[in-house]
Amino acid sequence: MTIFRTMLFTPANDLRKVGKALMLNADGTVLDLEDAVALSEKTNARNALKEALSLPRRGDVFIRVNGVQTEFILSDLLAAVTAGVRGLVVAKSESAEEIRHVDWLIGKIEKERGLTSGCMEIIPFIESANAIVNAYSIASSSSRVSRMFFGGVDYVLDIGTTFSKSGNEIFYARSQLVVASRAAGIEPPIDTVYPDFKDIEGLVADAKAVRQMGFQGKLAIHPGQIEPLNKVFTPTAAEISWAKKIVTVFDKEEARGQAVFQVDGEMIEYPIADRARRIIALAEQIAQKTV
Ligand code: COA
Ligand code: MG
Repeated sequence: MTIFRTMLFTPANDLRKVGKALMLNADGTVLDLEDAVALSEKTNARNALKEALSLPRRGDVFIRVNGVQTEFILSDLLAAVTAGVRGLVVAKSESAEEIRHVDWLIGKIEKERGLTSGCMEIIPFIESANAIVNAYSIASSSSRVSRMFFGGVDYVLDIGTTFSKSGNEIFYARSQLVVASRAAGIEPPIDTVYPDFKDIEGLVADAKAVRQMGFQGKLAIHPGQIEPLNKVFTPTAAEISWAKKIVTVFDKEEARGQAVFQVDGEMIEYPIADRARRIIALAEQIAQKTV
C-alpha cells in the first residue's frame, strides 16, 4: 500500500499554482481538468498539462478528468494518459461499467503510446447517492482501482442538503466507502475536501474523525491545509512506541505458545498485534517519504 495522507488539488490551467503545488509537502497532487476549470478554459487546461508535467515535483501526480458522461472525457484521457502521471481521478464516477470503459480506453492509449500496460491507476471520485450505492461494484470494477475519493461537496448537493461542521449528513456515505473499499480488497478511501480553508481547527477535527472511521487521508485545496492533515494521518510518537512494545511482547509470548495476555491492563491478542504491526509499517513508509 502507498499511503496518501494528503492530496492537493490545483487547477491544471493555473501554472503558477501548479508549480507551487508540486513542490509542497502533499503526498500527491491532483491537477484538475474538471470543476476547478471554467468551461471556456477546458482546452487550455489540457494543453497546460504538458508544461505542468515537466516541472520539478516532490510527490505523485494525478489528473482529474471530467465525468465519463461528459463531452470532455475522450480529449481529457488523450491529454492525461502520459508518462509521469500516476493515475487518473474520474470525476462523478457512477458505476462499474463506466470505470471499465475508462480502463479499456486507457489500455488502448497506453498501448499506442508504448506506456507500460496497466500501470495507470484509476481513482473513482464518489460524489453522488447513486455512486455510494454502487461503491462496492465500482471498487471491484478494475485492477487499476486501488483507492477511491469521497466528494462531499457534490454529494450533499445531490442528497439535497449542505455541509455541516458535525458531518452527520455524510456519515453514512463515509462509512459505506470504508466498508466497500475493505470488502473489495482495495486501500482505504481518501476523504472529501474541507472548503473553509482558513478554519484549521475545524479541518483537524474533521480529519481526526475520518481517520478514526478508517480513511487513510484527506483531500486538500489550499497549501495551509497540508501540514495539519499530514500530522493527523501520521502515527504519533506515543502510538509508535505503543506499537513497538506490543509487537516485541507479542512475539515473545507467541513463541511461548501464548496468544492472549495483558500489557498495562490492555488485553492483547492477534488483531491487536496486527494493528501494532500496521502502525509500524505506516510510520516507516512515512519516514521514508520525509527523508
Ligand atoms: N495549489 C497551489 N498553490 C495554491 C493553492 C493550490 N491549491 N491554493 C492557493 N495557493 C497559493 C496561492 O497561489 C497563493 O500563492 P502566493 O502567495 O504566492 O500568491 C498562496 O497559496 C495563498 O493563497 P490564498 O491567497 O490564500 O488563496 P487564493 O485566493 O490564491 O486561492 C483558492 C484560493 C480556493 C482559489 C485556491 O486555494 C484553489 O484554487 N484551490 C484549489 C481548488 C480546486 O482545485 N478545486 C477542485 C477540487 S474541489
Ligand atoms: Mg465537484
